[in-house]
Amino acid sequence: MIWLVMILLTAASGVHGQVNAQSSVAPLLRECYTNPELLNRNNLPPTTMPVLIDIIRKIEDDSNVNMDMRQLVASILQTYRQDGIEFHQTDGNLPISSTVLPFAPTFHSFYRHKLLLTRIIPGNLQALPNDVINSPLKCALHHMLSTTVDFRLRGNENSCNTLSQYRALRTFRDVSQHLMKDDVEILDVSSINSVDKNGQMRHYNPKDEIEYTDINDLKSERQVQIQSQCPILEGVVNTKWGAVSAGNVLAGIAGGAQYQTIPVTELARGAIINDQNIQQFVTSTYPTTLSGDLAEAILIQNTERGNPTIFVGTAGNWNSSQAPRFYMLHSQNNVEMTEPEIRGGIDGFVLGNIVNSDSRVSSLKLSQLLDMYYTEMNGVFDQNRRACNRRSLSQEFITNTNLVAETNAFTAALDTNIPLRGTIIGGLQQLVDSAVNNFQSYVTNNLNDVNCELTMNSMRNYRLKTNLYLVVDSSWQYQTIYPAISWLLDNIEVDKFGSSVTLLSAFDGSVIINKTFSLADFHTNYTYSLHQSLRPGVDLESTLTNIKIMMHSELENERTANYVGGNSTVLLFLLNSAVQTNTLVHEQARILNETVPDLRILFATSTNQFDNLWPLVRNLHTDIATISLNSDGTNIPNSMGNVLRVIQQVGRRIINPTCGSTYPPEARSNTMQFDDYVEPGYTNYYSVSPNYFYGGNENRRIRITRSGGGVGSLVICYSRIVSQPSRNITIGSDENAITCETIASSGSFEIGLQNACDGYYTINSCPLMYISVQSNVPSTGTSLSSTCTENACRFPYSMRYQIQINEFGCYSGSSTVGFSVLLLIFSFVINYI
Ligand SMILES: *[C@@H]1O[C@H](CO)[C@@H](O)[C@H](O)[C@H]1NC(C)=O
Ligand SMILES: *[C@@H]1O[C@H](CO)[C@@H](O)[C@H](O)[C@H]1NC(C)=O
Ligand SMILES: *[C@@H]1O[C@H](CO)[C@@H](O)[C@H](O)[C@H]1NC(C)=O
Ligand SMILES: *[C@@H]1O[C@H](CO)[C@@H](O)[C@H](O)[C@H]1NC(C)=O
Ligand SMILES: *[C@@H]1O[C@H](CO)[C@@H](O)[C@H](O)[C@H]1NC(C)=O
Ligand SMILES: *[C@@H]1O[C@H](CO)[C@@H](O)[C@H](O)[C@H]1NC(C)=O
Repeated sequence: MIWLVMILLTAASGVHGQVNAQSSVAPLLRECYTNPELLNRNNLPPTTMPVLIDIIRKIEDDSNVNMDMRQLVASILQTYRQDGIEFHQTDGNLPISSTVLPFAPTFHSFYRHKLLLTRIIPGNLQALPNDVINSPLKCALHHMLSTTVDFRLRGNENSCNTLSQYRALRTFRDVSQHLMKDDVEILDVSSINSVDKNGQMRHYNPKDEIEYTDINDLKSERQVQIQSQCPILEGVVNTKWGAVSAGNVLAGIAGGAQYQTIPVTELARGAIINDQNIQQFVTSTYPTTLSGDLAEAILIQNTERGNPTIFVGTAGNWNSSQAPRFYMLHSQNNVEMTEPEIRGGIDGFVLGNIVNSDSRVSSLKLSQLLDMYYTEMNGVFDQNRRACNRRSLSQEFITNTNLVAETNAFTAALDTNIPLRGTIIGGLQQLVDSAVNNFQSYVTNNLNDVNCELTMNSMRNYRLKTNLYLVVDSSWQYQTIYPAISWLLDNIEVDKFGSSVTLLSAFDGSVIINKTFSLADFHTNYTYSLHQSLRPGVDLESTLTNIKIMMHSELENERTANYVGGNSTVLLFLLNSAVQTNTLVHEQARILNETVPDLRILFATSTNQFDNLWPLVRNLHTDIATISLNSDGTNIPNSMGNVLRVIQQVGRRIINPTCGSTYPPEARSNTMQFDDYVEPGYTNYYSVSPNYFYGGNENRRIRITRSGGGVGSLVICYSRIVSQPSRNITIGSDENAITCETIASSGSFEIGLQNACDGYYTINSCPLMYISVQSNVPSTGTSLSSTCTENACRFPYSMRYQIQINEFGCYSGSSTVGFSVLLLIFSFVINYI
């Protein structure tokens, strides 16, 4: 007896302090439900894995957060996850009180969540600082991690049935093969339309009381009876391998990082279902993931419908193919273990077990672990351990008998913690068997995500590091241009280790959103209201002039910083209006061309404006595209694909920083270098502009040295013809078009640039030097080790090498400056006289 009291006491003290486990919306998260800006999900960044990883990196990089992965994952769950928050309409005609938040954690998922936070993922941890991320990112993270279902009628339910096309897109399959039939009843559309004509989600807004009372008696009815036929599942993030409940993933990792078994008696309140077969403990990786959702499905479905068959795997779709934010379920029923929860459950379970068993993982950051698992090629130290291989991983890691025993035990425990519409007095074993069988068969037969073979066939084996400057014309509809931009940013991988984006106005080239490597920050800033506030009109002359000033100041900054290279730079105009050009515009483009040699200028326009624009670009065949975008975003990959392909072809720069923007002829780089990294199996592409090697110099060269560990060899190739040289390309009969050399585990390779422009009479006619650095690893069975631990390494198995330049010069096309000044004066005279 004393023993029991002791356990109850410890248990009770464990609850204390875990605010997200209490039965009201946690104070830190209330803002997400009261502030109208934050309530509108369209103002928060899209719910995708890259955005989630970006936000986690921000937390990891905060100087006040000094935690390892084990502590951090638990702290993030304790701080930002609160499952089961639901909207509650007040009764009848009562106005909503300004002192009551009409949201509370009352959905079934809250009760398991509470057990996890209080008993299974211990929480006596250092708290995260309040301001570690700003409010929009806090709310975004909260919604990405917290599982709940929003049944409210939105008014756009008549599009429920058209959603399936997005699934087809996501899985790269033919749309026509895959139109799924929804198994939901069709509501009377007229009654839906009369409720909410503008199709907006009905969010609580303290200032909206009047509007709410206007609809008076309709609303409580609706809350109880008319629910959306495609309710929104929250807590879901999109990945290339299906929508995933991220709360399950992180909870599984936390359960594995603090691996333990917990007696059922410590979880149960009062008597558990009388069944002597029940295992007397649960293991932390199970209730946090699979057995947690299975238990919910068993308890809810059995008590509400008395059905001995337990259904799992209710599927759904994003309501947009780009910048996804709303995941709509295909049914209102059986929402306890939906398809995203199954994926998240498997991923969390697998990752939790890897964290618990593989010592290499314990030194990883949480963001790295997620990045390595949700990746195309390399996985968590092993090519098999990545999301595209989910189905085999579930067979490898999940033992059916253990899953049954754990589910049995946790169901019995959860039963005593969750309010139900009935009392289960026996027969639990059959329910558990049904649920586990249906889960296994769902994974085998229905989980048709992109597999590894398809992933490898459709992937790019190089990563971009592009500083992308987007010049946006305000005459685009936000609904049209925003998804296209979002698609582009996803594809150039805007992130801490990849590309950046800067948003400029086509009115005058002014900076609207500062250069950022954070997808989350960009999306938080580029909202509908920001777009509406852009000054209307396109003025290429002042835009190019201001961009030239900005680019020159970047070059000067690079001179100060001795920046030798690593990134490419692309300026992309996205124009909807018809533009005017004249010689003054041409002149600005020419100066940019000559003094910022590595800047590639591209145009994408809604109507064909080739005749006006061709004098402004380097390659008139590729650098001008006509794009036709529609507001549902379905044709974006087709339309923007050409633009993306050109961006991809622009190599990372290698420059002589001493040139700055002025190219003093006497400036010589001595020996300067930078480090770069390549992931196993990937290639990095560089290009060197003749502005750094036009004249002759006997000591001018580039040396590439392998300077870190890692498996396999590095293959260095160079070419003056092929912008992405690699060993297996041969161009026509010219065998010397590409030269390659292999660096084994150590050593270096030199590329001479002594007289590389001999025979070319102008800088512009002398071709660039293209270089590739490829990591060559055996394609299967390679064990990857952790060799790259510095902060610049995205992955622990990235390979470091050094690129060193020697005696680069400065040659500028503007040595013909006398001529261009004349031209300027001439054109001025033409224009103004
Ligand atoms: C998706 O649904 C939400 C909520 O109803 C709505 O605000 C948003 O505009 C929809 N997006 C698209 C592309 O239909
Ligand atoms: C180049 O890109 C890296 C990350 O990809 C970034 O850290 C660095 O600041 C960038 N440099 C410049 C000059 O943009
Ligand atoms: C961009 O950054 C600069 C300083 O780094 C700041 O002064 C400016 O206000 C920022 N602009 C915007 C639009 O955020
Ligand atoms: C985004 O907006 C916030 C606040 O409005 C600002 O502090 C931040 O600097 C902006 N970020 C960028 C990249 O412009
Ligand atoms: C820019 O330079 C390229 C050669 O690199 C040349 O072909 C093109 O005509 C130039 N464009 C402008 C606008 O000066
Ligand atoms: C590239 O060439 C190497 C050696 O010539 C060969 O072993 C390899 O299979 C080739 N790879 C491809 C993708 O063709």
